[in-house]
Amino acid sequence: MTHQLHPETMAIHAGQKCDPSTGSIIMPIHQTAAFQFDDAAHAEGVFLLKELKDGQHENIYTRVGNPTVTQFEKRITALEGGKGAVAFASGMAAIAAAVLNVCRVGDNFVASRNLYGGVSNLFQNIFADFGIECRMVDHDDPENFRKAADDKTRLFWGETLPNPRLNVFPIGEVAKIADEMGLPLMIDNTCATTALCRPFEHGAHVVVHSATKYICGHGSTIGGVVVDSGKYDWANKNVPMMTRKDPSMHGISWAEKFGDLGYLIKMRVTQLRDMGASLAPMNAFLLTQGLETLHMRMDKHCENAHKVATFLANHPKVNNVFYPGLDNGDSKKWADAYMGGRYGGMVGVDVKGGVEGGKTVSSNLQLFYHVANIGDVRSMAIHPASTTHSQVPQDMREKAGITDGFVRLCVGTENADDLIADLDQALNKIKA
Ligand SMILES: Cc1ncc(COP(=O)(O)O)c(C=O)c1O
Repeated sequence: MTHQLHPETMAIHAGQKCDPSTGSIIMPIHQTAAFQFDDAAHAEGVFLLKELKDGQHENIYTRVGNPTVTQFEKRITALEGGKGAVAFASGMAAIAAAVLNVCRVGDNFVASRNLYGGVSNLFQNIFADFGIECRMVDHDDPENFRKAADDKTRLFWGETLPNPRLNVFPIGEVAKIADEMGLPLMIDNTCATTALCRPFEHGAHVVVHSATKYICGHGSTIGGVVVDSGKYDWANKNVPMMTRKDPSMHGISWAEKFGDLGYLIKMRVTQLRDMGASLAPMNAFLLTQGLETLHMRMDKHCENAHKVATFLANHPKVNNVFYPGLDNGDSKKWADAYMGGRYGGMVGVDVKGGVEGGKTVSSNLQLFYHVANIGDVRSMAIHPASTTHSQVPQDMREKAGITDGFVRLCVGTENADDLIADLDQALNKIKA
């Protein structure tokens, strides 16, 4: 078909083939560790990466690839408009791999300081132990990325809709600086999702997702994925790990040998083969099913979050509401530019009473689950200062806009009036 399919259609059909042996229209869960080789020559060729199809390994061993996982990778690739993808056991594993694929001891990278707390800890503390420095900047001024970079900088990083502060990242502005400096811009698109934002259309080079969230949509699975646009020139020598002779694969240079597939093939061969955080076939199956309803769910999440944010903005127990749709500055401007004028399913609220106020709300909600997750059809709430961001030092947490009374709401697809009634009773429990 020459007709270009729309995202909602690709979410159901991309990467889909009926199972040739049974005619099953749903991809079977290939619950196997290993795959039979035809003969010795075939086996040898596969190990020497001679048998790549569309940048995908032939099936050898589920740690490096599996048909059920491949189908998920192909579908998210189509939805993001990329060149290819590599799936991982979790969003954190995908993020670690995206950076470690191109950074080694002595290198640095520049990231927005508005990040999910776990990622912030990985970037600041765990990578520091690897000798990799993360330089955190305010993304309100995109020029901060240029100012923080030097000749050891290997990439720029931001979250489209940062969890939990929700101040939208200026993808196009930072991508322009990245292009001028010859560096890749990597975007965590977890909270916006590909239904609201396709970062490659705005100049980003690599996209990652925690697929655990809206992609899964039902809180049943942990997974992650890295998608490469195929547009960054990995051979440009600004990222030496892509051009050096790699002892882990017979001294090849990934960029020279594989061109625009080099980043993904290196990732599969080194990060998956050698680090081993692979997505399980069963989980890939659930995530592919999740993708099929993503666009529909996101419509309802956005509609409900807007109603909830509007209600909270007028509540006497609320100091401040964080939601791009009610912002009158850059966050709204960038949401309009990069998220199609939609604002996602999350709402941040700074309640009266500081830490105690935040804990009162999270403890008294009845419909909202009190959990460390987002992106589910069920509404969910958490108080970051005492949970997800408790590892982040208070000054850094406050710099990132997460005050003591901040509560993160992830608004589900229930009836909005029921959610508003639940929030009202929980807020009213805060002591005057
Ligand atoms: C924006 C963002 N990125 C990455 C992650 C980590 O994903 P996972 O929990 O799948 O490892 C999270 C988790 O909440 C997140 O919110």
